[in-house]
Amino acid sequence: MEYFTPQGTDLKASRIAQGCMRIAGLSDSEADALIRTDLESGINFFDHADIYSHGACEEKFGGVLKRDPSLRDKMIIQTKCGIVIGTRYDFRPEYIRSCVEGSLKRLGVEHIDVLLLHRPDALCEPEEVARVFEELERSGKVGYFGVSNHNSFQIELLQKYCQQKLIFNQLQFSPVHTPMIDAGIHVNMKDKAGIVRDGMVLDYCRLNGITVQPWSPFRAGLTSYLGNPRFGKLNRAIKKLRVKYGITDSAVVLAWILRHPAAMQPIIGSTDCTRVSQMCKATEVTISHEEWYDVYRAAGNKIP
Ligand SMILES: NC(=O)c1ccc[n+]([C@@H]2O[C@H](COP(=O)([O-])OP(=O)(O)OC[C@H]3O[C@@H](n4cnc5c(N)ncnc54)[C@H](OP(=O)(O)O)[C@@H]3O)[C@@H](O)[C@H]2O)c1
Repeated sequence: MEYFTPQGTDLKASRIAQGCMRIAGLSDSEADALIRTDLESGINFFDHADIYSHGACEEKFGGVLKRDPSLRDKMIIQTKCGIVIGTRYDFRPEYIRSCVEGSLKRLGVEHIDVLLLHRPDALCEPEEVARVFEELERSGKVGYFGVSNHNSFQIELLQKYCQQKLIFNQLQFSPVHTPMIDAGIHVNMKDKAGIVRDGMVLDYCRLNGITVQPWSPFRAGLTSYLGNPRFGKLNRAIKKLRVKYGITDSAVVLAWILRHPAAMQPIIGSTDCTRVSQMCKATEVTISHEEWYDVYRAAGNKIP
């Protein structure tokens, strides 16, 4: 496993992170096994959100820590806040404060290492967000801050007021979900791929030392594109690299994400211990420039 230090922090974070959105349905022993597998494979970074299974994912994770409190010091725990499911987005201080209190309680920890704003709140008042970030940092309840699903100017606006550096932006990204790459390839063209949907967020994050955390690296809609005949060409391109590098399909996808010079930190959602440990081999492989484009095109993306 590779580690990196997100700009403006003293964290030593694993290049691959474990997402905890799917752990609510695991038994206690399955959850213990998954977290242990992560740590043994070198993954020390865990991503949560207060809304995952209405808090049950954080509770399940809290149970793992309760059964073995020594694990807490070995991990970086990130959670997200600001979504009121199916209703609204809410970055008002009282709501953010209540989310943090809830997460601390469910996780059973004294502090959260990283807090992200989950999705932009149309009514966001950046001065208020700055005030609550300041308070959460001063109280020691949150170590670092970031955002998720934010575009360049939304981050710029927040950062104008927040004293704390925004260190992460979590965004959907995989070979089948590439808008933040497409627009940079189809510059000044009239085709749909040329539409800038995110304010060139990938370049913005690179310029500002913000690490992009790709979410759902293996998903197309509700299922995975891996092994799915609907994505035959892509699976054939992945298989070619799987054979060449002696790693699994999922590891090939992660190697593809990691090959991008933005030095992203993919968040995997698998709860299968074998799969997870095999995925970590991705950091030992560097695919070539040509192979990166082969996978990009095999996913149906066009080169003008
Ligand atoms: N910020 C946001 O808005 C946002 C949104 C969604 C998710 N997230 C974060 O991102 C994390 C990952 O998201 P995700 O779980 O949707 O992403 P994912 O890792 O792309 O998808 C996980 C699913 O893919 C399956 N899978 C993995 N490898 C496979 C293979 N080789 N063949 C077939 N199926 C395979 C897994 O099944 P197995 O469990 O059986 O391996 C699991 O059901 C979440 O846990 C969460 O932390 C953030």
